[in-house]
Amino acid sequence: MIGLLESMARPLLGLLEAEDAHRLAIHALKFRPFVKLVADDPLLRVRAFGLNFPNPVGMAAGFDKHGEVPDALLRLGFGFVEVGTVTPQPQAGNARPRVFRLPRDGAVINRLGFNSDGAPTVLRRLAARAKEGGIVGINIGANKESADRIADYVGLIETFAPVASYFAVNISSPNTPGLRDLQQAQSLDALLRRVMEARARVSRTAATTPVLIKIAPDLTLGELDDIVGAARRHRVDGMIVGNTTVARSATLRDQAIAREPGGLSGCPMFALATRILAETYVRVEDAFPLIGVGGIYSGATAVIKIRAGASLIALYSALVFNGLRLLPAIKSELSHALRQAGCCAVDEMVGVDAAALTAEKWPA
Ligand SMILES: Cc1cc2nc3c(=O)[nH]c(=O)nc-3n(C[C@H](O)[C@H](O)[C@H](O)COP(=O)(O)O)c2cc1C
Repeated sequence: MIGLLESMARPLLGLLEAEDAHRLAIHALKFRPFVKLVADDPLLRVRAFGLNFPNPVGMAAGFDKHGEVPDALLRLGFGFVEVGTVTPQPQAGNARPRVFRLPRDGAVINRLGFNSDGAPTVLRRLAARAKEGGIVGINIGANKESADRIADYVGLIETFAPVASYFAVNISSPNTPGLRDLQQAQSLDALLRRVMEARARVSRTAATTPVLIKIAPDLTLGELDDIVGAARRHRVDGMIVGNTTVARSATLRDQAIAREPGGLSGCPMFALATRILAETYVRVEDAFPLIGVGGIYSGATAVIKIRAGASLIALYSALVFNGLRLLPAIKSELSHALRQAGCCAVDEMVGVDAAALTAEKWPA
């Protein structure tokens, strides 16, 4: 039924400006009583960061920025949903148009710039659904005009600790000027020290909420050394690899749209994001698990991400072009691949190709 409705609606959604189509999709999810159709294959269960995921496929940050539809997404079968990026104060983000499809490349460019309903509104929504259960992570970011960006992250940890399954500390959006500088060694050290102190403070009242950092795929290996070093020193619970890329391959077919400034996501970033994932995995040495994000569009690409080092995966752009039917397809292909490989759990596949991938030619 979902498939039928979707196949009728998608050509119409494709005619709308990308952001209007997204708003319509959120409204549809709000008002349709979606039922989870099939229970997950027990083979797909993952335990990571102290949490039990029913399956490893999550909805990446940016789709449900304001915490409007986490339960609809969980009922559709996502193993987890990452709400956000949420900023402390509400902010409008950049001027429209600010989301662009590259249909021939299966890619999206966005320069939303953290449009957010703000922490108080998102907290109210998430508190109202807190008893529903399911894994709902909260991706947090600083306001554009903030005088003390680190204080923004600290405040968000304190605010959302009671309702967050985990935190994703977003230091990798390319659309807030200077935000990515927080990935640099000294700034990251200061950020993680204060974020982990805040988490320890709130843990006295709430359960300990895992803290993950979300990084960009546009890093040198030297920068990645520093980031992983800081993450390990400060004992973060995991990393998300990664956010959108500012790189533009010469092989993109929609070259005119490719010139739009912003972060590119979807198929063309798969190779780079997967390489950075593998490079991260070998540096982390099992200190914590990774969520692999960037360009997943099929069961096969999901398997490659896991073999490159991801214990969990998340996606967004491929859903714009293929609809939500992609989710059950990815999960069943994943089950099939695990059985074929003789694995009894996702865990057994994580990182098996990481070392080999790091020896390959750097992706173009
Ligand atoms: C329209 C759009 C908005 C996004 N907004 C956010 C965001 O607010 N915070 C964030 O951490 N990532 C955001 N992302 C990045 C995604 O979470 C993801 O890291 C990236 O799109 C790569 O995955 P994909 O190729 O499956 O889309 C956004 C992506 C898109 C396409």
